[in-house]
Amino acid sequence: MSQILQLGYLGFEVSSLDAWRGFAERTLGVSVGTELDGGGFTLRMDRYPQRFFIEPGPLDDASVIGWQVADLAALDAFAAKLPESTRGTPAECAKRKVSALLKFDDPSGVPTELFCGPELAAAPEPSPLLVSRFLADDVGLGHIVIGADDPKRSIAFYRDVLGFRLSDEIRCQYFGYDVDIAFFHVNRRHHSLAIGRRDRKRIHHFMLEVASMDDVGLCFDRALKSRVPISQTLGQHPNDRMFSFYAVTPSAFQFEFGYGGREVNDADWQPTTYDRISEWGHHPPIVFAPREPREGKRP
Ligand SMILES: [Fe+2]
Repeated sequence: MSQILQLGYLGFEVSSLDAWRGFAERTLGVSVGTELDGGGFTLRMDRYPQRFFIEPGPLDDASVIGWQVADLAALDAFAAKLPESTRGTPAECAKRKVSALLKFDDPSGVPTELFCGPELAAAPEPSPLLVSRFLADDVGLGHIVIGADDPKRSIAFYRDVLGFRLSDEIRCQYFGYDVDIAFFHVNRRHHSLAIGRRDRKRIHHFMLEVASMDDVGLCFDRALKSRVPISQTLGQHPNDRMFSFYAVTPSAFQFEFGYGGREVNDADWQPTTYDRISEWGHHPPIVFAPREPREGKRP
């Protein structure tokens, strides 16, 4: 079976480009790349030309999910399995900076693209804020958790048609919510995609992983300083062992910023089901941002 290699890019349609530019540069620590025709811009974080497409619109949600495949033969093999798919035009490939792509909607209607041949830079884009680096490049930009209209149908599609491999599942109660999430890998990263039940938006969160614990703490500090609402405090998941926190993007979906994610080796991996979403932490915070320092008072 042809394989998907990694989560290549995410597109977000956002109601405030300015808020996203500031959030990307001052909180996440990624770099603005190209200014796009029609408004919007791309974001860079490693050797890949464009990891995010931030474009204007009212949706405030994911507008495209891009997955990399090995080559044109792999793309052709997927095209044969996806009768509704269409080929990207030369202009669409040029916008993505890839040699070829295939477009279709996933079972919940999420615009999805498979691509090959990204224009890689010779060296990773240095982050202006990180003391370490983003763990991306050959393991993908991170992960995305999506809410499906019919999770069973979406799970069958990603697993049986696109070839995603089950890592594990989590079923539990979390502060009054029924959590039922399936986690899938396409490379050694524990999961590049997780699927739960749809809530308000297509995307629940995306995750970026860094190479040092300090960078998680420093991003937490930047979020507090910039008054980015923390949605889940520092904590650790039982399945991918990620040390992370969650906060809210300017489009009101969440992002996760993590360190130390576990890797999967398909040779000996046994999917399991967990009855908790975190070993510790990941609580809704009581205190969000500190007050502005007042004259003569200690901040
Ligand atoms: Fe996550």
